[in-house]
Amino acid sequence: MGQESLRATLRAGTREQHSRLDTALAGPDGQVADTAAYVRIVRVMHALHSYADAPLARWATASPLAGHLPAALVPDRVAAYTADLRALGADDVPAAPPHGAQVPDSVDDARGLALLYVLAGSAVGARVLLRALPDTVPLEARAGLTDAASPASTQLWRSAQAVLSQPIDRDLVDGAVAEASRVFGLLVDRTELVAS
Ligand code: HEM
Repeated sequence: MGQESLRATLRAGTREQHSRLDTALAGPDGQVADTAAYVRIVRVMHALHSYADAPLARWATASPLAGHLPAALVPDRVAAYTADLRALGADDVPAAPPHGAQVPDSVDDARGLALLYVLAGSAVGARVLLRALPDTVPLEARAGLTDAASPASTQLWRSAQAVLSQPIDRDLVDGAVAEASRVFGLLVDRTELVAS
C-alpha cells in the first residue's frame, strides 16, 4: 500500500491556513493593492525568515533526512527583508541576527521538515507577489522577494520535494504537520497584527 508523500500531507494539512494568509496578504485576486499592503507582506516575510532560516540551516547540515538538500540553497533572507523595510521607511525593524544565532543545538526532524516545506514553498507565493507589485513600490525595496524568486530558490523547492517524498514514519509525519500548522498559525496571527 503506497503512503501519501509528506509534501502532499503537509499541503492538505495547511491548505486552509495558507488560503487565509493569501487572502489577508494579497486579497482574493492575488494583487498587492498599494505600498501599505506591500509593507505588511514584507513584515510577515521578515518574521517568517527571522523565525525559520537559522533553524533550517542548522537542521540541513545535521540531519540524515536532509541528505538531498544542498546547504547553500537554504535561505538567509532576514537581512534582505530588513533592508526592504528600512527602504520603505520603517524604523522599528530589529537588526538581522547572524545566520545560526540563537538556535538550539539540535532542531528535531519534525521541525526541520516542516520549516523546509514552509520556507521553500513560500518562495512560490513570493514569485506571484513580485509580479503583482504596484509601480509605487520602489525597486530598492524589493530585495527579499527578488531573492525568493531566484533560480536558487526554485532549486530549493525542487530539492525540498525530493526530501519530502522519502518514506517517513507516521509519527514524524504527524509531528511535521503539527509544526507546519503552528508556523502558519504564527504567520496568520502576525498578518492580523500588522494589518491592525
Ligand atoms: C509568508 C507567507 C506564505 C507562506 C509561508 C506560503 C507557503 C507556501 C507553501 C508551503 C506552498 C507550497 C504548497 C504546495 O505544497 O504545493 C505555497 C505555494 C503557493 N503559494 Fe504560498 N505562502 C505564502 C504566501 C503566499 C501569498 C501571499 C500568495 C498569493 C499571492 C501565495 C501563493 C502561492 C501559490 C500560487 C502557490 C502554488 C500553489 C499550488 O501549486 O497549488 N503564497 N506557499
